[in-house]
This record gives sequence, C-alpha cells and structure tokens, in this order.
Amino acid sequence: MAFQSPLHLRRRLKQMVGIGAKPSQIVRFPVTYVLPDGSEQVVQVEEHYSLLMASQALPAPISTGRRAGGTCPDGGCGLCRVEILSASGLTPMVQAEQDSLDAMVRGDEHEGRKREPGEALKPSTRLACHAKVVGPGARVQVIELFDYDSVRGDPTGS
Ligand code: FES
Repeated sequence: MAFQSPLHLRRRLKQMVGIGAKPSQIVRFPVTYVLPDGSEQVVQVEEHYSLLMASQALPAPISTGRRAGGTCPDGGCGLCRVEILSASGLTPMVQAEQDSLDAMVRGDEHEGRKREPGEALKPSTRLACHAKVVGPGARVQVIELFDYDSVRGDPTGS
C-alpha cells in the first residue's frame, strides 16, 4: 500500500506540473467560407478564434493589407472586411468594430496613412478580425484573399 500524506502533497505536486491532469477539451465549429472565385471551403474553427485567424486554413488568409495577412495591431485598418451570409455562431458586433468600419468608409487616416473613403457598408458587413466563432453554422463571403505574390518579389532578381 502506497504511503499517502495527510496533505496529499504528491497529488498536489503532480497537479502543479500537469501530470495526470485531464487535457482541456478543444471545441471546434464548422464555418463555411465562400471564396472570391465562388468556391466554398468549410473550416473547423477552434472556439473563440476570429474569422481572420481561422482563415489561415484557406488557400490564402483573408487579406488585411499586412504582410502575410496578419491582423493590424489595433483592429482599425478595416481591410479584413467580409460579408456575413449567415451569422449563426458568431459573436455580435461591438462598438469598436463599428467604429473601425465607419472610419474606413469615411476614409479617416489610419496609422499615420491617408486612406481613400471605403465602399458603403451593408447590414452584413463585418471585420474578420473582430467576429469570433462561438458556435456552428457561420457562412462568410470573403472579399479578398491575401496575395502571396505581393511579397514574393521577382524570382529573376531583375
Ligand atoms: S485586420 Fe485590420 S481591421 Fe481587421
């Protein structure tokens, strides 16, 4: 019979270093992306991932204007714009997202750079870096995928 301390020190030590701990359950939900060419791709998205993060599973991520399609630091560039065909399983829009969209439409300066006024918003317009997946069934029209050729350079070196 194994010795068992009255304070359960062995069990506490194991818990502290993660031995015997149950792995946390990762929950994923299907999201359908309708790509600019009309094709569709279903991505199993980890709960609380944004539509932008999950778009890394597409042939190219949603375009943001950042190199490699990364998110902008403040969620304010407005370039990850998508149209929501079904909002099922998505977090609702918050004021910061609405403010970013409004600033993009007005053409407000962002990160010290001037912008042209953007296209008018539709009720279905969202920013992919703000909309997070919390359930199944979202359907998203992607406006633009990141263009890898824009960062590859000229292979001939000329
Ligand atoms: S990546 Fe800039 S607003 Fe979404």
